[in-house]
Amino acid sequence: MSERLVVIGSQWGDEGKGKITDYFACKADMVVRYQGGNNAGHTVVFDGHKYSLQSIPSGIFNPKTVNVMANGMVVNPVSVIAELERLHSQGITDYQLYISDRAAMVMPWHSALDGAYEALKGGAQIGTTKKGIGPAYSDKYSRVGLRVGDLLEPEYFAERLQGALEEKNMELKMLGLETFDFDQVYAQYMDIASKIGHMICDTSALINKALESDAKVLFEGAQGMMLCIDHGTYPYVTSSTPSSASVPVGAGVSPKWIDNVLGVAKAYCTRVGEGPFPTELFDQRAIDIRERGHEYGTVTGRPRRVGWFDAVVARYVSRLAGIDNWALMLFDVLSGLDKVCICTGYELDGEIIDNPPATIARLARCKPVLIELDGWKEDISDVKEFDALPEAAKAYVRKIEEVTGVKVGIISVGADRSKTIIIDEKLKKF
Ligand code: IMP
Repeated sequence: MSERLVVIGSQWGDEGKGKITDYFACKADMVVRYQGGNNAGHTVVFDGHKYSLQSIPSGIFNPKTVNVMANGMVVNPVSVIAELERLHSQGITDYQLYISDRAAMVMPWHSALDGAYEALKGGAQIGTTKKGIGPAYSDKYSRVGLRVGDLLEPEYFAERLQGALEEKNMELKMLGLETFDFDQVYAQYMDIASKIGHMICDTSALINKALESDAKVLFEGAQGMMLCIDHGTYPYVTSSTPSSASVPVGAGVSPKWIDNVLGVAKAYCTRVGEGPFPTELFDQRAIDIRERGHEYGTVTGRPRRVGWFDAVVARYVSRLAGIDNWALMLFDVLSGLDKVCICTGYELDGEIIDNPPATIARLARCKPVLIELDGWKEDISDVKEFDALPEAAKAYVRKIEEVTGVKVGIISVGADRSKTIIIDEKLKKF
């Protein structure tokens, strides 16, 4: 029987999923990405080298691991080729990568439209990555999108492209943007097909075969639960569902396979882009944490907003995604603070509430109810076991478990693979 592990972001993205998926990818037979696109930015560090991935799964560094970009993703083939070229230039040439024939494609007009829609919003911008993710998902649901598998059928691709361009060029013209020429786009995408055609297949069949064998299958989420289109801080969200709940649809597998969900959460919180962030810090502590944690966006380079660990969010996410364990990331970054805080509730209009409200208007009025704990001064980046952590650091971890109701299964104390404390026995065995 296969072993499964789902790794998801539990805050606003950038929690360090890249490191965790890479850690398990070394042992996994298959790594599957099931939502999002090249809006994600995963940094993986090992053997003194730093690699950055956008849409390619984190198992790409292990020649034995089968990497799958599944149907729930929006795939930008231009980005995939650029990512592969970058990996080649860093010496990563031996890998296995498959792309779903049913995945929607991000086309060049999608990023143009993403930028234009943002500009139209005036002061109410979402702060998207401008990679065209929202417009690509919109086209998928409007049934005007092109799919990766279309590339394998040139005549059919031409027909779909013609249809899409008729609609999209009209919209681009209305917005005062450059339109796209059929012949040029067709030639470009046929060239793309010649480069990645051999990777395109029915990935659902591939994944199910692995699940039915004794393979270890890792499902790699992108972004974070608070950016979920359904359950996040709408409209300041991405356009997919980063939850473990979207694995079955996004990978083409039965829900019965989903268990062992690891929620990746920073020991504090960060957010890029706009939208309410109840535990946000605005003083020197935010600057210190930002600098120590190198909190700048991998995709856009934007400085990330910084705040305390939010247990309201953590409990909400655990309820929605069935979190079995937390992977508590960047724990070493908190060293040196006199006091550390955890948000246990929100105060909204004089009342204490236990769940994030649905509207931004209300969330923006929420004030964090904070508990304050002693900080620790020691550098913990070389600590290998939970018991060797300073008492105050252990107390912080125990408090997170208490206020979220979920055990901390992993603690990360540095970017490198080796700086990972695995506590949970099941995770040790994966
Ligand atoms: P989009 O996904 O580019 O449409 O951006 C929508 C929102 O999600 C923006 O606030 C982005 O900054 C945020 N976002 C998208 N992908 C990521 C990610 O991988 N990490 C963190 N934030 C992200």
